[in-house]
Amino acid sequence: MTASIPCLSTIDEMRAAVDEAHARGASIGLVATMGALHEGHLSLIRAARAENDLVVVSIFVNPAQFDEKDDLRRYPRVLEDDSRLSAEAGADLVFSPPVGEMYPEGFATWVQVEELTEGMCGRSRPRHFRGVCTVVMKLFHICSPDRAYFGEKDAQQLAVITRMVRDLDMRVTIVPCPTVREPDGLAMSSRNRRLNPEERAEAPVLYRALTAARDRVQAGERDAAVLKSAIRSVLSEVPTAEIDYIEIVRAHDLSSVATLSGTCLIALAVRIGRTRLIDNIRVRA
Ligand code: PAJ
Repeated sequence: MTASIPCLSTIDEMRAAVDEAHARGASIGLVATMGALHEGHLSLIRAARAENDLVVVSIFVNPAQFDEKDDLRRYPRVLEDDSRLSAEAGADLVFSPPVGEMYPEGFATWVQVEELTEGMCGRSRPRHFRGVCTVVMKLFHICSPDRAYFGEKDAQQLAVITRMVRDLDMRVTIVPCPTVREPDGLAMSSRNRRLNPEERAEAPVLYRALTAARDRVQAGERDAAVLKSAIRSVLSEVPTAEIDYIEIVRAHDLSSVATLSGTCLIALAVRIGRTRLIDNIRVRA
């Protein structure tokens, strides 16, 4: 039998479900997504299921975080499959509002986390994190979660949201979850669906480059410039791969490092064809 759960589309309906849960003392876990769910998302839902009484999955392709119209237009939308997959992974309800419900006429208020959003993905996508923070803040207000689950795959997003919650004294615990990968190492992503078969075969080069750098760190290399050039050399195996950035940063504040020490993130964004892929790996130096 296929599992089926309620799919709410208005803020009022969602608030009523939250009030009902609070009235019976139930804890709420939120997994915020833009849909086209894969094993990465499902791992977050399972983690939420293990720790909360009510598990809410939000599915909302947030126009405010897309810098490219074409990227927004091409983003996969498969709500029926997503509801079924959410249910099978243990969610209790799906919240999938239309755009007008989240951004009514005259919407004019934005949440901006500074500094952390300036490098890495923020450099080529200047309004991206403002859109992410605003929608996540709204989802937190609407769903009142005790815990919210975010993937380490989007390391900068995780750091930015963690900082927003701290800075604005929000009452939610952010739970980081490890990156889920395909057997060949490619980090799962809704955007992987857009890769044609040749591009899909090339895409694992991101993980190969990251693991090559990690191996060098484990062997004692501490010079970020040397590591970046090792990454560039692996990426050059795929001539069509276009590098957006290669960054080595401190894990806690995303500041660039020249010499690795402590816990660092090696992060990259690479375009394969028209699809921009990101990935990162954590290393201890
Ligand atoms: P989306 O890309 O759908 O991702 C939703 C959540 O799933 C994020 O926390 C993301 O880090 C996590 N995730 C994606 N791929 C993963 C993987 N391979 N392994 C583990 N976790 C993974 O991120 C967003 O949506 C949006 O920016 C959102 C936070 C929903 C705001 O609109």
